[in-house]
Parts: sequence; structure tokens; C-alpha cells
Amino acid sequence: MNKNWLLVVGARPNFMKVAPLIRAIDKHNHSRDSSLVTIHYLLVHTGQHYDANMSDAFFRDLKLPEPDLHLGVGSGNHGEQTGKVLIEFEKVLLREKPDLVIVVGDVNSTLACALAAVKLHIRVAHVEAGLRSFDRNMPEEINRLLTDAISDYLFTPSPEGDENLAKEGIPGEKIFLVGDIMVDSLLFHLDQAKSTEILYRLGLRTTAADGGPQTADHRTSTADRPAAIDYRLSTSLLPFALMTLHRPANVDDKQALEKIVHGLLEVSAHFPILFPVHPRTAKQIKAFGMEGSFQFHSSPDIKHDEYFENGALRRKIHCFAPLGYLDFLNLMSNAKVVLTDSGGIQEETTVLNIPCITLRDTTERPITLTEGTNVLVHNDPEKIVAEVRKVLDGQTRVSQCPSLWDGHTAERIVAILARRQCGGLARHQCGGLASHC
Ligand code: UD1
Repeated sequence: MNKNWLLVVGARPNFMKVAPLIRAIDKHNHSRDSSLVTIHYLLVHTGQHYDANMSDAFFRDLKLPEPDLHLGVGSGNHGEQTGKVLIEFEKVLLREKPDLVIVVGDVNSTLACALAAVKLHIRVAHVEAGLRSFDRNMPEEINRLLTDAISDYLFTPSPEGDENLAKEGIPGEKIFLVGDIMVDSLLFHLDQAKSTEILYRLGLRTTAADGGPQTADHRTSTADRPAAIDYRLSTSLLPFALMTLHRPANVDDKQALEKIVHGLLEVSAHFPILFPVHPRTAKQIKAFGMEGSFQFHSSPDIKHDEYFENGALRRKIHCFAPLGYLDFLNLMSNAKVVLTDSGGIQEETTVLNIPCITLRDTTERPITLTEGTNVLVHNDPEKIVAEVRKVLDGQTRVSQCPSLWDGHTAERIVAILARRQCGGLARHQCGGLASHC
């Protein structure tokens, strides 16, 4: 029996959630068990994110196949963007008539594609279901609530997801606790990520002991390379903080952004802050005339000396264009501390056991607070500095990796869906693939 599935990606945080599904489908199709359905899939890119470094770089790093269909939707207000995806994706559904649509995460493309499918009575699977920040001012919270309400299969990363869905009246037979699919990508790519050159390119790792360039300027050819070693380095790696910031609540509100930047400038006395900057944030920094607090680098090729001024760390936030998946993962796994308002990074730092200071007052991922390294500081400069001080004092928590965050989430999802599509096994017959079967 053959089944046709459509896999949807739209924005940057979707790509690392779909890559493991594609690997799991390929593995499933190569299984020798002839009783299994063969899954044909098409990859649909809505085009919500379209910049090379917000999209193409992730296809390359994650070895995603070229999208079979590209809707080219682009940016816009929420209604406009969601509406355009709805219109274009419906056309795809009418043409392709899939048996199943798989959406991931909580971006506008997730909701729009789920809605288009359910209206045409096509089954929808939502991966990363059940997350709730309980803050309806976040566009993602609306996307999560509505996508979960209309999906047929809800795959949750952790037990609070199941509890949230149950409270919303979603029948238990639709819910499957399968673990965190982002962790599949993280564990699959970690070794490869650690071998990228980003630490050298950023001038963070500079000594010969690591096999890297001997001097601050790694860009000169071997023949031209000056011989002097930078003796200011007490270790082979300059300790650094990594930051991401793009939520409308933080970057569209001048006061909020000013408060955060105030805290960050304090932090910059202790760690250089490396900030691959989202296009929305770059635009807002300029619009608010706040460029003075930032040092914009035209590329992530930074000389070690650029972090210093008069023998001390330069009190600036170091910005450059967004990085690809592997470079970012490498940086995250080597950072002393991560400051972020992203959702996924809270999970990734928990797995990597790197302190995470979240610049929000809520999280839809509370397990990262209870079992992980995450702490919420909102936009409060004092709290930001106090948490960084704890890192400096070595008072960091050790995370316990949550159950089922083991790199096999996509396989569990594909096995459950393939069996269900095969005529539907009762939940208890899914062979213990989901933890609560
Ligand atoms: C979206 C997701 C958010 C996710 C984030 C990750 C929604 C509601 N939000 O937010 O959950 O954390 O992606 O990045 O779906 N832009 C570019 N180039 C691009 C993409 C965007 O320049 O490739 C600029 C545009 O000016 C656009 C703005 O960034 O207006 C915001 O993009 P948009 O897709 O609307 O939302 P994000 O803030 O990226």
C-alpha cells in the first residue's frame, strides 16, 4: 500500500524539525517488513523565510532535499502572510490530494497549512504539539492553540504538553508523547557541527594547541601569517556569550529593547557577546537609533583583537548576519552562556548543558526550567546581570536530559503514523513506540 504525505516547512525553526522526519521516512521505506506502507512524500516550502541565511543555509547544513514545491509567500503582516499560505497551500492540496499533511512547530505557516488541510478533510499531524506559554500576546501561542485544536495526531515533546492538551479537551487517543524532534537533529549533527571553522572565523579560538591558526588573523595565508601568538588568552578559547533576539515583544518595543541592551552592555564587560542578528531585529535597532551599542561586522570573520579596547573587553554587542545550523550549534555548544528569546534554543541548551538566560517572562517549554539549564529574566537588566554573575561564579545548574529526548523522536512519529495510515491500530497496539502506549 502507498501513502502520500506532504511535509511543510516555512520558517527557520521548522527546518531542523523536518530533516529527522525525512530520514525516518527513508529508513521506514527501506525496511524489509513488507507489511508496512510505502510512504511517498513531497516537501513543501511556504517561503515564509526566504533569505539565504534564514533558509538555504539550513537546507545545505541539514542535507534537506530541495523543496518539491515552493509557495514563495514571503513576509507580510500576520493576516496577510497566513492568508497567502492558506490560499497557495490549498491549491497544492487540491492538486496533490495527499493522505496526510505534517506540520511542525508554531509559525504562521504551521497554522495556515493545518487549516487548509483540515478544511479539505485531509488528516493533519502536528509535531511539537501541546506547548503553551499561556501568553496570547505571542503570535506563536495562537498558532499553537489553533493548530492543536484542528489536528488529528498530536505529537508532544514532554508530559506537560499532554496535560495542556487534555485540559483543552483534546481526546487522549489523538495525543502521543514521543519526545523532542529538535534533539534528533542536534544529536545527529553535533559531531559534524563541532568541526566547523566558526570559532576560528570569529577569532574566538586562536592558539596552535587546538590545531587552529596561531594568531588572531586566521585569514592570512600560511606564508603571510605573522608568528606572534596572542598571550592574552589564558585558555585556547576566549569565553563568550551567545545571543539571539527577535521576538516582537522585545525588539518592536523601544523601551523593552533599551532595557535589554542596558543589561547586555554590563555583560559585555565580562564576555564578548556574539549576536547573529535576525533581520527583524537589525531593522529595529536602526529604526530606534540604537546602533551605538552594537558593533556590526560585515561577516562572521572577526579578528580576535576586535573584542578588545585598551586591554579590556570592548563594551559593544558584536553583530553579524544569521548563521547556518552547524555553525550556530558549534557556537552554542562552546558558549559560556546563551541569552535568547527563542523557544528551541531553550531546549537545545538543556541538552547541551549550557546555561540559558531567557529574555522572556514566560516559556512554553517549562521542562527546561525544571529539568534543564534555563532561567527566565524577562527584559530586566538587573536579573540579566545577576544570572550572568552566577555563571561567572560557577553557580550553574546541571541539566537532566528529559525523557525521550534521545534522538529517536522522528522514528517514533513515522512508525505511529504509518501504522495508523495502514488501517489504524489501537493506541495500545503501537508497540510501545510512544511512551504511553
Ligand atoms: C518567525 C516565527 C517565529 C520564529 C521566527 C524564527 C511566526 C509568527 N513567527 O518570526 O516563531 O521564532 O520566525 O526566525 O511565524 N525577514 C527577512 N528575511 C527572511 C525572513 C524575514 O528579512 O528570510 C524579515 C522581514 O522583514 C519580516 C520580518 O523579518 O517582516 C519577520 O519575519 P516573519 O517571518 O514575519 O517572522 P519572524 O520574526 O521571523
